[in-house]
Amino acid sequence: MCGIVGATTRAHNTTPILLEGLQRLEYRGYDSAGLALLVPAGEGRTRLTRVRATGKVEALHTALGDTPLKGYLGIAHTRWATHGVPAEHNAHPHISDGLALVHNGIIENHDTLRRRLESEGFVFTSDTDTEVIAHLIAWHDRHSPDRITAFRKALQDLKGAYAIALIHEDDPDTLYCARMGSPLVIGVAESGHFVASDPLALLSVTDQFIYLEEGDMASLTPTERQIWRACGNPAILPVQRYEYADHSLDKGEYRHYMLKEIHEQPRAIADTLEGLLGEDRVFTAILGPDAEQALSKVRNIHIVACGTSYHAGLVARYWIEEHAGIPCQVEVASEYRYRRVMTPPDTLLVVISQSGETADTLAALRHANRDNLLGSLALCNVPGSSLTREANWRLLTRAGPEIGVASTKAFTTQLTALLWLTCALIQSRQPGQGGTPVTVDLVHALRSLPQAVADSLTLAPQIETLAARFAETRHALFLGRGAHYPVAMEGALKLKEISYIHAEAYAAGELKHGPLALVDQHMPVISVAPSNSLLDKLKSNLQEVRARGGQLIVFGCEQAGQESGEGIEWLTMPAVDPLIAPIAHTVPLQLLSYEVALVKGTDVDKPRNLAKSVTVE
Ligand code: M6R
Repeated sequence: MCGIVGATTRAHNTTPILLEGLQRLEYRGYDSAGLALLVPAGEGRTRLTRVRATGKVEALHTALGDTPLKGYLGIAHTRWATHGVPAEHNAHPHISDGLALVHNGIIENHDTLRRRLESEGFVFTSDTDTEVIAHLIAWHDRHSPDRITAFRKALQDLKGAYAIALIHEDDPDTLYCARMGSPLVIGVAESGHFVASDPLALLSVTDQFIYLEEGDMASLTPTERQIWRACGNPAILPVQRYEYADHSLDKGEYRHYMLKEIHEQPRAIADTLEGLLGEDRVFTAILGPDAEQALSKVRNIHIVACGTSYHAGLVARYWIEEHAGIPCQVEVASEYRYRRVMTPPDTLLVVISQSGETADTLAALRHANRDNLLGSLALCNVPGSSLTREANWRLLTRAGPEIGVASTKAFTTQLTALLWLTCALIQSRQPGQGGTPVTVDLVHALRSLPQAVADSLTLAPQIETLAARFAETRHALFLGRGAHYPVAMEGALKLKEISYIHAEAYAAGELKHGPLALVDQHMPVISVAPSNSLLDKLKSNLQEVRARGGQLIVFGCEQAGQESGEGIEWLTMPAVDPLIAPIAHTVPLQLLSYEVALVKGTDVDKPRNLAKSVTVE
């Protein structure tokens, strides 16, 4: 969850590079930030210098204001606290015996190691697990022939997950790094070598990257690099161009990244579908080797994900079971990874993740019961991420970088890809080249999707007006039926995430089994009411709320024949093909949470306690 940047350059001051990198990584954590540099100290010598500050990267800028640092080798970090409260003494880098180190991940055996190191005379100045690594490397440094051996031996003592960048005052141009369970890439440029948790951090210096694999470690100078596997064997990894290098990373005309990303959805969906749709069929070769043949054999599907990505999986279950007739189970990764899962024969495991680095989702993929598994498919937004590399097949959403912590365009592009997958599964069961009536309808619906989402965005001015009502709201209920139940769940997650309103979603039919007791004139009840076979049932549920004084806000279809009145605000959604209605109906809920957050005055893009990429368990 933390963000790491490091640089070893030929005659370039690294401070601005590190600070810009941190700013771009702030989505990964923003409790505190720090950097360490080797600063020239005269007569060819350098001095290790560290500056840290609590709060956002801006606070580090301020702290540096009085101490302008210049150096060619440096590391920096933005923190999302796991061990130890957000405070300057817990901020990275941590130092020991002339080395400085930044870390992302969790060291599970830190207590044991700490006791061992304390008995060796090391003095701890933080409550973090990270400081253990710094002292551990320092200890091995005293007992090893060279630094790289010391680094490797220290890594062998660690249990848990890490991405590490390290500098030492005796090595004025060497940046050391390693990864296991947390992401780390090497940036390659004329001006030097760089490391970061995410290529996005380094796009101002390079678009060329090496993706380290689990257990890899590296030693980098401005002109040379050596990479080793955990066992010590040298590794040669390809340098790859970052696919999203051309995407703009600023907010443009928008006040927040979240709003920009909401408005990018028609384009993101169109990009995701590019090259995937034929006249009346979908093209499946994109999935990778053997996938097309494997699809035809799928008899069960397990979908595993976290948060918003999990909600995408829940919507997909309705589509896959309804249209493809394949049993589909959806589960949060943090549960799936720790229980004995019954995997029926010919099961396809689908793992969904925006980042492709979510610790629980990756662990679920690794720990899945392989006995009856046909294979695994990663549905992911980040090319080259761990999930895409470890699954058998991959389907990339093309949302582009998503910076706002609250996921928006990643969700709708995931749904797009999942509807496409539904079509691919149906098609794989039909011999011949022509489409079936269902695939023809699905392809047609998918084609209309970018415009349908653009139409949904036209509700923005009405939603802005509506949001004022939430100024004093502390609780809200969301209702949906069928595939719109998980859409309601996603709406509730968005609202609680960025406006800190306690929000829960229920399948509308469950209302009278308990939650109805909560309904009174202070309880907004938000519902999505598309035109489908469940509309009349839903309308009855809404009347139950109205009869108890609840304040209904409904994003509904024209066919419902309903209007705003006492206790009900009815916003009519533009007409949309029912097959894609869950995607179109997601948009007003995103806009509502955004506008309510503005009313509440919260930090929309960086909500408290959260981070974008959850790379720890
Ligand atoms: O990168 P992933 O899709 O694996 O992330 C999963 C969740 O952490 C993520 O969707 C989270 O729930 C979002 N902040 C929701 O807006």
